[in-house]
Amino acid sequence: MIYKNVLEAIGYTPIIELQKMVGEDSARVLVKYEGLNVGGSIKTRTALNMILAAEEAGILKPDSIIVEPTSGNQGIGLALVGAVKGYETVIIMPDSVSEERRLLVEHYGAKVVLIHDAGNIGDCIDECVKTALRMKEENPRVYVPQQFENQANPMVHRHHTGLEILEQVAGPIDGFCSGIGTGGTITGIGETLKALNPQITIWAVEPENAAILAGGTVGNHIQMGIGDGVIPTVLNQCIYEDIAIISDEEALHTAMPRQRAAPLRVCPAWLIAIYLQASKSLLYLSYFSNRFFNPRFCISDFRLYIPIREEIVKNIIRKGCKRVDLNLNIHHFI
Ligand SMILES: Cc1ncc(COP(=O)(O)O)c(C=O)c1O
Repeated sequence: MIYKNVLEAIGYTPIIELQKMVGEDSARVLVKYEGLNVGGSIKTRTALNMILAAEEAGILKPDSIIVEPTSGNQGIGLALVGAVKGYETVIIMPDSVSEERRLLVEHYGAKVVLIHDAGNIGDCIDECVKTALRMKEENPRVYVPQQFENQANPMVHRHHTGLEILEQVAGPIDGFCSGIGTGGTITGIGETLKALNPQITIWAVEPENAAILAGGTVGNHIQMGIGDGVIPTVLNQCIYEDIAIISDEEALHTAMPRQRAAPLRVCPAWLIAIYLQASKSLLYLSYFSNRFFNPRFCISDFRLYIPIREEIVKNIIRKGCKRVDLNLNIHHFI
């Protein structure tokens, strides 16, 4: 099949069963590998759907400017969609996200506005949103998709990602876990999977330092793209049965080459699979984990892009993981 443009190639990512990472007593872990999606993550799906919905509603005109507050992948997706469709795009992001994300957005031709993250990601995202809304007030050409509120976000997962998963997995899916950014992924996919199998258990995954759904306090963390310190409007809070809280150290540790899962960032899935036990299947989504690191610091001296996290790195070095090889190939590790 020959696609007319890159947007037509969005979706239909593979599902890969982890072989080496889980033990015999664990559930099998199926990873829907969104790292192979156009734009490198699941968020290109929501970017396209929000833009298509706005075009259909007549909100987006050819001279419109797309402005979105985001901590990462959604910005990359919107920059890509904006570039293909010819919209000027501005992405407003915390200055604590990796340099790689910022460069990618700029590479697609979008402008980046950085907002200082003084140690509370929730406050910073709030400021990003306010900045976007101010730009809208000042310029009627500005359209703010507002992924945290836009129903086109969970809708694409309900109607596309979720159905893709059902088509791909023949047997029952007993568990599903997803990190919460806007909540669109867990809401849309969760609703589709639960409609077919009401017995499924769904886990929301939150970073320890922004476990707001679990009633925790919000600080800073390195798990970019989830744990934005807000309870999003699009999140269906009844869709998950439980919450898995993952520390930065656990997330980073499972992303190490030694753990045989480097490219997939599967920490919560690993823990929940042990809990679910054998003969069950657990589904998880992942993107390529090199976005988790800032290559400039990581390869040379293994420091993280957020200086306050250096303590974690010291601990991991003590545990024997010496460096991150960013040229890892998925086929080596699963
Ligand atoms: C693999 C994966 N899961 C979950 C999320 C969070 O997505 P959402 O904003 O739909 O909650 C992201 C965000 O980038 C992601 O890449």
